[in-house]
Amino acid sequence: MTEIYDLRSYLDVLEQHSQIVHIHKPVNIIHETANIGATCERTGAPAPLFEQLIGYDGWRLFSSAVANQERVALALGCDKRGVTAAMARALEPQNAIAPLYTENAPWKRHVITDPTAIDLSRLPIPKHAVDDGGRFITGGVTVSKHPESGIGNLGYNRMEILGPRTLGMNINQWRDVQRSHAAAEAKGEPLGIAVAIGLDPALSIAAGCKYDGDETQIAGAIRGRGVEVTRGITVDVDTIPARAELVLEGHILPGARRAEGPLAEFHGYYGEPWNSPVFEVNAVAYRDNPIFQTIVPGWNEHIYIGNVLPREPLLMRFVSHTSKNVQAVHIPPYTNGFLVVVQLAKKTNMGEPRNVAMGAFAAHPNFRICVVVESDVNIYDPSDLMWALTTRVDWGRDVFTIPGAQGHEMDPANDSKGIGTKIGIDATFDKGRRPYGARVSYPMVELAKYLSE
Ligand SMILES: Cc1cc2nc3c(=O)[nH]c(=O)nc-3n(C[C@H](O)[C@H](O)[C@H](O)COP(=O)(O)O)c2cc1C
Repeated sequence: MTEIYDLRSYLDVLEQHSQIVHIHKPVNIIHETANIGATCERTGAPAPLFEQLIGYDGWRLFSSAVANQERVALALGCDKRGVTAAMARALEPQNAIAPLYTENAPWKRHVITDPTAIDLSRLPIPKHAVDDGGRFITGGVTVSKHPESGIGNLGYNRMEILGPRTLGMNINQWRDVQRSHAAAEAKGEPLGIAVAIGLDPALSIAAGCKYDGDETQIAGAIRGRGVEVTRGITVDVDTIPARAELVLEGHILPGARRAEGPLAEFHGYYGEPWNSPVFEVNAVAYRDNPIFQTIVPGWNEHIYIGNVLPREPLLMRFVSHTSKNVQAVHIPPYTNGFLVVVQLAKKTNMGEPRNVAMGAFAAHPNFRICVVVESDVNIYDPSDLMWALTTRVDWGRDVFTIPGAQGHEMDPANDSKGIGTKIGIDATFDKGRRPYGARVSYPMVELAKYLSE
């Protein structure tokens, strides 16, 4: 398989596996590209590469890089069922691989540092959902360095265009970059950061992980070698992905706050506008023939990066501790990180599915619904999961609830402090109730063989 080291080599891999669609019709970055990306994500279609953007000659736009299980597996270099294990390996501290420093960064080819020449509105930063407050960078990775410890960090912060060089930068209190910003702000100092856009998906996935060290090391663990990083042109940040398509450099200003938002949030509703820190851009730098990358907010890729991939390894660890029969776990992206599925190879006793569900709830507070199934159910296929829920659950007997449990405070089903009811569902078949016929199945065929000619 082609080696992946940047976005372009990943696009080659997607091409080889028919997981990319080139859209040549001119499209508008105001809603239209997001509508197309969202449609591709929910219908299982390939990821769209927009070749012509109305008003943005010279730029292309790509979205939905890791929006389904196939593409996640391609990005991680494993098969569909190996994703949880691949992420578990990548997140083990002993597997961390430090980045390799290079001066050779293709994005340093075109550099704008004259403040009067920088105009963010001339970058193809889309307006995504219909009620979003403005044009947002959603797929940019914030690269920062703690001012005291010097430890580098990657993460995501939505950024709304508020002026030619000004972005409202959403930073919530749990983020590493929040700690760096707070440390600088306490001394009245700006924090230099870079935003890297258009990346090897190993870096995009690593940036979504909560990790004490520098997330470039997770990307290294995914690739089995250090990823290339470089120093900023105008800021003291030294772990900027060298092969990014586009990099914005600048400072989070001390003491400044401005309203940004709303934006489609991870739970699938619009959030409130936030009074957020302000990022002033000092440099815009990009590769030849640049590709702008975006994440459709509140949709599959957003959930995969933020809620599925970082959490499946932990879920697996907790449920495997509860039962030796766990075969696989999945957090379906269309359930926004609130529902988990656990698959048992066999059942040793009737109470096992319930214990497994309790193990799942202990793994992460966001998990509110746990469905336990057997090995004949395809946990990546929503219709198969629905079939198991429909034909294998006696809703009076196979369900247990835990009221008053802590969940996420933004979970729309919980109260404003995140308190709500968790529900475990035993959707396994063999409950000794009555004999029944075998499940119908048809062998899958390779359709292409029948459709050509
Ligand atoms: C697409 C996407 C958008 C996100 N947007 C924000 C955001 O606007 N503000 C924020 O504080 N966190 C946001 N997050 C969450 C974190 O930045 C991210 O999960 C990261 O892991 C933070 O980890 P760290 O504290 O280890 O740096 C987003 C995550 C994803 C995947």
